[in-house]
Formats: sequence, C-alpha cells, structure tokens
Amino acid sequence: MDDSLNKIAWPVATERLSLRRLESNDLEATWRYRQLPEVTRWITSAPGSLDEYRKYFLEEGRIARDVAVEVEAVGGKVLIGTVMLKVQDGWGQSEIAEKARQAEAEIGWSFDPAYGGKGYATEAVRTVLELSFGALGLRRVTAECFAANEPSWRLMERLGMRRESYARQSGLHRSGEWMDGMTYALLAEEWGELVTA
Ligand SMILES: CC(C)(COP(=O)(O)OP(=O)(O)OC[C@H]1O[C@@H](n2cnc3c(N)ncnc32)[C@H](O)[C@@H]1OP(=O)(O)O)[C@@H](O)C(=O)NCCC(=O)NCCS
Repeated sequence: MDDSLNKIAWPVATERLSLRRLESNDLEATWRYRQLPEVTRWITSAPGSLDEYRKYFLEEGRIARDVAVEVEAVGGKVLIGTVMLKVQDGWGQSEIAEKARQAEAEIGWSFDPAYGGKGYATEAVRTVLELSFGALGLRRVTAECFAANEPSWRLMERLGMRRESYARQSGLHRSGEWMDGMTYALLAEEWGELVTA
C-alpha cells in the first residue's frame, strides 16, 4: 500500500483549518454530507446506503490517500471535507520510467455544502498543493472534473491551476448523459512562481 502521506508531519494547521490523515472512524462524519445529492452529483461513486458506503470507504488503500479537513466549531472540531492526495507514477519511456515513479499526484475533493462559500475548500486544497510540492517533493499535480462542475474548476483556477485539457463528451454521468471533462495541472516550478509572485 502507498504510504507516501507518512512523509508529512500531521496534523497540518492552516489559518482556519486543521488537516490530518483520514481514519476508518471518519466513516459516519463523511457519510453525513457525502450522501447529499449536491455532493454525489459530481463525484465518481454515490453509494446508496451507509452499508454500501462502508464497503466503498473501507476499500483497501482508499483511506490512506485521503486528507480530512476540520474546522473549529462550538463543541470541538468538525470534519467538513476530504481532499484526495493520490501519489502516482509519472509517465516515462521504459528505459527511464523508474525515474518517473511516484513523481506526481492526482488530487480531488468533496466538502460539506453547509460549510461552502467560505473559502475553506480553497484553503485546504492550497495546503495540499503546498504539501505536494514541499514535503512530498512532487513535480506535477493534476485534477479532473466534469466541465459543468463550475465550483470545482473555479476552485482550481483560484489556486492557479492550469486548464490542460478539455475533452468533449468524455465522461458518462450517472444521469446517462455523456459530459465534457477537463483536466487541470500544476508543475512544481509553476507553483514556485505563484507563491513568490
Ligand atoms: C467543489 C467544492 C469543494 C467547491 O466548494 P466552494 O464552497 O465553492 O469552495 P470554497 O469553500 O473554497 O469557497 C469558495 C467561494 O467562497 C468565497 N470565499 C469567501 N471567503 C473566502 C476566502 N477567505 N478565501 C477564498 N474564497 C472565499 C469565494 O469567493 C468563492 O465564491 P465564488 O465561487 O462565488 O467565487 C464543493 O462545491 C464540493 O464539494 N462539491 C461537491 C463535490 C465535488 O464536486 N467534488 C469535485 C469533483 S471533481
């Protein structure tokens, strides 16, 4: 199992949030918002019951690549979202492919809409980019979304991610519609320019 996220000193505090590794006992806290139609509309899997969600959530390796995002509230910390940080191999020609191993990451997110519109998701994903290029030393980070998922691509553009592809009708939505998809990316050197600008 990939243990890349062990290289980070958790928990990581941001201005308003605390980021930590996701744990198996976060099942119910994530189910609380992951079952909402406005969240499942855009994400890959939409388990229909807590039992189905448990199977999905506990699939080998899934928890290991996710970061839990918490905010301080009356009565203690509340889990408001998760950010996937999946470290993976870059592509390389076979003689040199070894050097591309674990060189990049795919990121993704889902947040509780009750805490939307406050910049929490932006703050959390910004920190995940910082960790990707900092502690993890990655060279490239990518993320994908349906083109119609405007909040998601606005978040990426707010953080300086670059639209790298726009594919027509590339993804089958569970509504039955083939929808356009987009890929965004950021290189370590681009991130360096953004943070020093
Ligand atoms: C994608 C998603 C995380 C975006 O949520 P969000 O609420 O738009 O994101 P944020 O919490 O960062 O809030 C950003 C908004 O808050 C505003 N905001 C307020 N205070 C802010 C602050 N301090 N910093 C940044 N933005 C702030 C921004 O202007 C922005 O509003 P705008 O979009 O009208 O310009 C959320 O819609 C979601 O979880 N969707 C369901 C799952 C999903 O689609 N996952 C992705 C699949 S590809």
